[in-house]
Amino acid sequence: MAKSRSQFVCQNCGATSPRWSGKCDSCGEWNTLVEENAGTGIGAAPMARTLRKGTPVALVSLSGELEEAPRIATGIAELDRVTGGGFVRGSALLVGGDPGIGKSTLLMQASAALARLGHSVVYVSGEEAVAQIRLRARRLGAVEANVGLAAETSVENILATLEAGSTPSLVILDSIQTLWTELADSAPGTVTQVRASAQAMIRYAKKSGATIVLVGHVTKEGQIAGPRVVEHMVDAVLYFEGEGGHHFRILRTVKNRFGPTDEIGVFEMSDKGLREVANPSELFLSERNESAPGAVVFAGMEGTRPVLVEIQALVAPSALGTPRRAVVGWDNARLSMVLAVLEARCGVRFGQHDVYLNVAGGYRISEPAADMAVAAALVSSLVGKPLPADAVWFGEASLSGAVRPVAHAPARLKEAEKLGFAKVFMPRIADGAKSGLSVTEFSDLTEMVARIAGTN
Ligand code: TYD
Ligand code: MG
Repeated sequence: MAKSRSQFVCQNCGATSPRWSGKCDSCGEWNTLVEENAGTGIGAAPMARTLRKGTPVALVSLSGELEEAPRIATGIAELDRVTGGGFVRGSALLVGGDPGIGKSTLLMQASAALARLGHSVVYVSGEEAVAQIRLRARRLGAVEANVGLAAETSVENILATLEAGSTPSLVILDSIQTLWTELADSAPGTVTQVRASAQAMIRYAKKSGATIVLVGHVTKEGQIAGPRVVEHMVDAVLYFEGEGGHHFRILRTVKNRFGPTDEIGVFEMSDKGLREVANPSELFLSERNESAPGAVVFAGMEGTRPVLVEIQALVAPSALGTPRRAVVGWDNARLSMVLAVLEARCGVRFGQHDVYLNVAGGYRISEPAADMAVAAALVSSLVGKPLPADAVWFGEASLSGAVRPVAHAPARLKEAEKLGFAKVFMPRIADGAKSGLSVTEFSDLTEMVARIAGTN
């Protein structure tokens, strides 16, 4: 009998190593190596067989017949936008997110919506009992929906169930970490099990034409394998995000072989499940305090969608030797850069002041286009003069203090106009922006500072 070899597999990145060490050489995470049997997972070399000679495959040209991927739309517009127009048949999706963020809720609502449209849906939960899922379905008003439910974790049993009946349109597996297959003999939740189970389910999707949705918990560290190893196996990866204490949730595409990767879907968690938010700007601007110094509305973009959001700055005299800088919803390094540019190029001194920056509503901005809006908020708070309440701001700052143009200016202006804003402060652009707003253009931050500090 062949002696079974063991190897150590990093539960974070999936790298293997012949001996244990405290830190993974590949990804640098600590305490992630777990002993697993080698040569038993899917993809392991067949031991007892001799190698077969390959057969040539036909090569085709790049130009040729094109087929639109057949899709099933859920009718939940925010979800369909993110997937690129609905679930593609025979594809596999991974929906990741922190525990408790609402993944099961979203997928239960999607299942119910599809079932109501006449599609057959199977929802397999490895985390909750049938009674619990029914309770959630009742809360979501989805009881009448024709969804096949099972609480099961064995991949073999799930596949046998799916193959016994007619092929469903959509299969939800909640969650991938709870699945286990007899093809791999390590413990459930380990990378080998997660990878082997996902592979078996993806193979089923390709063969049958059903869409598979895998739910994956994202854990910072810990025993359960992160869904990272599954990301390159699936056709699309969606992340469901939200801030603790806030009700809105953002569904973001990270990878999509069949559609755009920069779209977001916005939802609000209510007591009856997730509600679509068709106009996120209204949500983020709903609690605005218009007359306070340091508040500014930034005209941002998420993919192809404009999002208006309020940025608040508080600049207060500091009692500390090293003043505090605290940021929520924006990049810390970016704030330091804007502060340094204001100090060095515009002569605005923040050295004796604490600086706090907050993006309202728990939203997170990742665009450099927010630089000028942030600078305006900081200066406004420092000099104690409120900015015009009916204005939006956008523009990127360079280290020289110049304000640089950013992409999608027309879309930003259109959204601001739609929401009733009258003014825009933006970078100078060559061909001039066409809009009904009163436009003030800046070519550097010094002009902007003079304007805020000078006039009221
Ligand atoms: P859930 O979908 O179970 O999260 P996940 O599957 O990502 O772990 O959602 C959990 C949270 O959502 C829970 O804290 C309760 C809340 N919730 C609502 O606020 N309203 C609802 O209608 C439902 C079903 C859940
Ligand atoms: Mg869940």
